[in-house]
Amino acid sequence: MTTIYEVARRAGVSVATVSRALNESGYVSREAKRRVLEAARQLDYHLNVNARSLTSGRTFIIALILPDVTNPFFPAVARGVEDAASKSGYSVILCNTDGSPRKEAGYLSMLRSRRVDGIVFTTSELSGARIGDIIGDSTAVVLVDRDIDEPYDIVKTDNVKGASLATAHLISLGHTRIAFISGPLGLTSAMERFQGYRDALAQAGMAFDESLVAEGDFRQESGRIAMERLIERRGPAGPDRFTAVFAANDLMAVGALTALESHGIAVPREAAVVGYDDVAIASVTTPRLSTVAQPKYEMGVLAAELLLRRMAEPGLPRQQEILQPMLVIRDSTVERRSVPA
Ligand code: RIB
Repeated sequence: MTTIYEVARRAGVSVATVSRALNESGYVSREAKRRVLEAARQLDYHLNVNARSLTSGRTFIIALILPDVTNPFFPAVARGVEDAASKSGYSVILCNTDGSPRKEAGYLSMLRSRRVDGIVFTTSELSGARIGDIIGDSTAVVLVDRDIDEPYDIVKTDNVKGASLATAHLISLGHTRIAFISGPLGLTSAMERFQGYRDALAQAGMAFDESLVAEGDFRQESGRIAMERLIERRGPAGPDRFTAVFAANDLMAVGALTALESHGIAVPREAAVVGYDDVAIASVTTPRLSTVAQPKYEMGVLAAELLLRRMAEPGLPRQQEILQPMLVIRDSTVERRSVPA
């Protein structure tokens, strides 16, 4: 088996330099690092990770706990987490919870026994206190996307603002009856988007009408079902009919599009639709979906960077990174005035 001494000899550097280069700790010139990596590759030398853990007291593993890896929003976040973590020599374990508090608790306790160094977590229902009980004090945790009570750091997008942008866009196009498909209202992200919808209506002097709201669960099928309910309530043509729909994420907006299509309601002529997230599918639906973009990849990068900082400085005050959403106008929204009455 190749030893670290042979790598050092082949690269023409000291053993300490090989160790620093392969462990990504301490200064090594770019040229020395290149020679070390090349020598390690030629000699098929692999770092003994267990030995490294024993000396550093770290596993160099972090976990990413997500509610739904089939929602394209989350793989984009995961990509950011993975890129930032691997740059610092960390590997990432992925856990999918289906939003189940039981699964979340199970993963936390498994990760504690595996001694991961930190966790990026999109939790559904667990409180800060419950997470602390399970994971203890020695594992760093950063929340991403969904807030809970303190004490954990958080990276998210300004959901109130994003939902206001979507609703105000529809209002600016002349829509006065705007339906809303919310996410599950037990989640802060869903509540904040609901708040943004209501704020924009209030700012335009428009009354909030509960019959225009249907709750979904952020999955595509729930968007379709919520849209069916709204269509059922829609009644005969008249001034009370909704002419636009804001869905609190793109997957539910896609579900809403299928329901509208199956009822022969033309988008955007008879009903304009706006989603939220700007996942890839939003630009290939028919018509292409107007939406609110979240900086998904950046959210992941920032969450991992915050986690690394928290791991290095556990005593830091709570950090909050709130990123800005952006309205993306495509073909599913159209000026009301251009629609035949
Ligand atoms: O949890 C699902 C939703 O919340 C995603 O679609 C995205 O909008 C996130 O913020």
